[in-house]
Amino acid sequence: MFALLNFLALLSSALSAPILGLSPGSENAAATGTPTALALSDLQSSFKRPAQFARVAFCSSVSISNWTCGEPCTALGNVTFLQSGGDQGLIPLYYIAHDPTDNSIVVAHEGTVTSNILSILNDVKLGLVDLNVTRFPSTAGKGIQVHSGFQQTFERTADGLLAGVMKGLSDTGAKKVAVTGHSLGAAVATMTAAFLKQSVDPSIDVSLAVFGLPRGGNQAWADFLDSTVGVKYMTNQQDPVPIVPPRSLGFQHPSGEIHSLDQSQNNFTSCPGQDNEHCSTGNSLLQSNTTNHDGPYLGITFGRKSCPDGQ
Ligand SMILES: *[C@@H]1O[C@H](CO)[C@@H](O)[C@H](O)[C@H]1NC(C)=O
Ligand SMILES: *[C@@H]1O[C@H](CO)[C@@H](O)[C@H](O)[C@H]1NC(C)=O
Ligand SMILES: *[C@@H]1O[C@H](CO)[C@@H](O)[C@H](O)[C@H]1NC(C)=O
Ligand SMILES: *[C@@H]1O[C@H](CO)[C@@H](O)[C@H](O)[C@H]1NC(C)=O
Ligand SMILES: *[C@@H]1O[C@H](CO)[C@@H](O)[C@H](O)[C@H]1NC(C)=O
Repeated sequence: MFALLNFLALLSSALSAPILGLSPGSENAAATGTPTALALSDLQSSFKRPAQFARVAFCSSVSISNWTCGEPCTALGNVTFLQSGGDQGLIPLYYIAHDPTDNSIVVAHEGTVTSNILSILNDVKLGLVDLNVTRFPSTAGKGIQVHSGFQQTFERTADGLLAGVMKGLSDTGAKKVAVTGHSLGAAVATMTAAFLKQSVDPSIDVSLAVFGLPRGGNQAWADFLDSTVGVKYMTNQQDPVPIVPPRSLGFQHPSGEIHSLDQSQNNFTSCPGQDNEHCSTGNSLLQSNTTNHDGPYLGITFGRKSCPDGQ
């Protein structure tokens, strides 16, 4: 409760000017197209296993490395762990695994526990910076800017992660790479997917399915993702995270939002365009529900509770 109140207080103090529309006219355009209704069966194939892999990323490095992380691991069946990377912290920044069910290499980024969600807001203060064009040469001159905190996190692991994916592809003969993550991990996953897309052989299918995605960059970044990676992301009900940082600060979501309307897990909409006003973008921070951030997403709730060491 204390964390939640702090969260809301920070939200309103850090963001009240943009939320309340004190800088009208500076916002990017919101899409207005009518969303299409979807049921659970329409989403299983694109989001179910990504959600399960993203949930594993909350567990300790040791339990992931021998695939003994309890229900999150057993739900996925016989998956082969390949590599993890990050700090000396208990939770890896990412892990790489081989999924034999579709012969793919999976990259899952660290999940953010709810009490750490404040780090997202701290990062908001860092704002937009130029995308590293040394790493993304094809973007030179396009005016792409991304969230500086997300780019810093991405840069810390990008080289080791690419080496691990290349080795995984060559060792297993996989023809697909599936990238996933939740929250902060979702934002970093979009950068990872764009980087892998330009780095692996063009015959390799690189897909991205993420959950509770905050805005990660400007309009040019959203357009770049739309034309290269093709983001698929699920947002849940009144979760505040997908509506920060605000569009009034120059941030814009890519296309590809699937919005969950209620707890039933059978009532979703596919939202055309970028930042569709009928989906998360139409939510207000003043009526947000932080519980919605962790899920459920196709029945999966994120957090450490289901890991062997709990909490
Ligand atoms: C998993 O690895 C950890 C650390 O190496 C070890 O303590 C644990 O016994 C292992 N579990 C299994 C089932 O191998
Ligand atoms: C699990 O997968 C590995 C590699 O794909 C395979 O060698 C092993 O036989 C499988 N184990 C089971 C129990 O299916
Ligand atoms: C930009 O990317 C290059 C690799 O392409 C890397 O060596 C460099 O450290 C990155 N710069 C920053 C500021 O992260
Ligand atoms: C789905 O959500 C809409 C809007 O909240 C609601 O009107 C409808 O009854 C819901 N349908 C189901 C099957 O839950
Ligand atoms: C937030 O959402 C959860 C899950 O739907 C619900 O149980 C809870 O009552 C909601 N809280 C508020 C304040 O609406």
